[in-house]
Amino acid sequence: MRTQLKKFIESMEPNSIAIIPAAHEVTRSYDSEFKFRQDSDFWYLTGFPEPDAIAVIDPSSKKPYTLYVRPRDPLMETWYGRRQGVEGAVKNYGADRSFSVERFDTDMAKLLDGKDVLYYRFSVDRNLDSRILDYFAPQRVRRLKTAYPPHTIIDPTIITGEMRLYKSADEIKMMQRAADIAAEAHILAMKKVRPGMNEGQVESLLEAYMRDQGASGVAYNSIIGGGDNATILHYVENNMPLKDGDLILIDAGAEYQGYASDITRTFPINGKFTKAQREVYDVVLDVQLKCIDFTVVGNTHQKRQEYSIELLTEGMKQLGLLKGKTKDLIKKKAYLKYYMHGVGHWLGLDVHDAGRYFVDQQAKQSKPYAPGMVLTVEPGLYIPPDDKSAPAKFRGIGVRIEDDVLVTKDGNLNLTAAVTKDPDEIEAIMQKAGRK
Ligand code: GLY
Ligand code: MN
Ligand code: MN
Repeated sequence: MRTQLKKFIESMEPNSIAIIPAAHEVTRSYDSEFKFRQDSDFWYLTGFPEPDAIAVIDPSSKKPYTLYVRPRDPLMETWYGRRQGVEGAVKNYGADRSFSVERFDTDMAKLLDGKDVLYYRFSVDRNLDSRILDYFAPQRVRRLKTAYPPHTIIDPTIITGEMRLYKSADEIKMMQRAADIAAEAHILAMKKVRPGMNEGQVESLLEAYMRDQGASGVAYNSIIGGGDNATILHYVENNMPLKDGDLILIDAGAEYQGYASDITRTFPINGKFTKAQREVYDVVLDVQLKCIDFTVVGNTHQKRQEYSIELLTEGMKQLGLLKGKTKDLIKKKAYLKYYMHGVGHWLGLDVHDAGRYFVDQQAKQSKPYAPGMVLTVEPGLYIPPDDKSAPAKFRGIGVRIEDDVLVTKDGNLNLTAAVTKDPDEIEAIMQKAGRK
């Protein structure tokens, strides 16, 4: 049994049971599917890679870990790929016992009867939701009590979200590999980008490199924005030609063994920043470096966001984008025009990883940073191309710089430091790679 599953069991309420489903294949069009991606919590707890499985965790049982899986089926396997089957689930994935997933619904009454608490996350798998409700419904109207269904339902992500916040040494190794692969891909992009290339070609060279290095693919859809496409936060069309004199913003991360990296670099398509581009870049870089230093034990997530707003508001004033007292501008949220997102997020199996940002949601008491957490640091400035109030030289410039930082006992470790963000070094890399 995986350490994560052991810890999960230790955190469960007395007399409880958990139902944790795997992901399903998702239709892309007609009868073809998107590439399969396992559910992160299911993967975290079981490491089982196949779709449609269901893990049932019953700590009071002698065999607490049951895995319902797709049965072996020579015909299906010839068409759609190998299956572990019930033997493989036990032998290769440490399940205490395994049954065909086709049995799950009939087993449910037996599994849930007499339990006080059910851990299940409603609303992710609507089909399974309704099958579970089908189990509960008749129990509610039965006069002669013959079955005792759980009276309390708890979302298991309350446990897994908290666990996933603190990365183990093994997880950090995998995250470092995801970070290294993406960092190298970004350096490759710096070397290869030329005016006249299409954004899609840059996307393909990054992703080919990631796959080549053992990543399963990208951790999220890459953002490859040339010119003012960089001012669209989630620009993923990636199909426009790159122009001489513009910047390119690349936000691309790799997925390795399920773990994400998330890197953004912004650099000049022709290899040389203009003065105006450099002015904006220097402001964002200065804020990013300061926010990395801020990502340490003792600070909270909320404080870091406020710090980034303060620094970027100052930067906007320095650039002539905003005028007035910093305090007033912050109160009016004037910065939102040019900086409209968070300065970072948890990172792990998901790019925007699980785990709460507040210790006390109601009181809005923000979580303090602690060793083992991994966060992105990604301030940006985005000046809309049609913003008449901005100095003309800045219009259409979008700059974001993003690194992945591990909080340690006595500071932090930048997992993505291997790809430079120093503007002079970027220019040198680009020049060295040859320009036209
Ligand atoms: N690439 C998504 C993000 O930076 O949050
Ligand atoms: Mn990010
Ligand atoms: Mn990103």
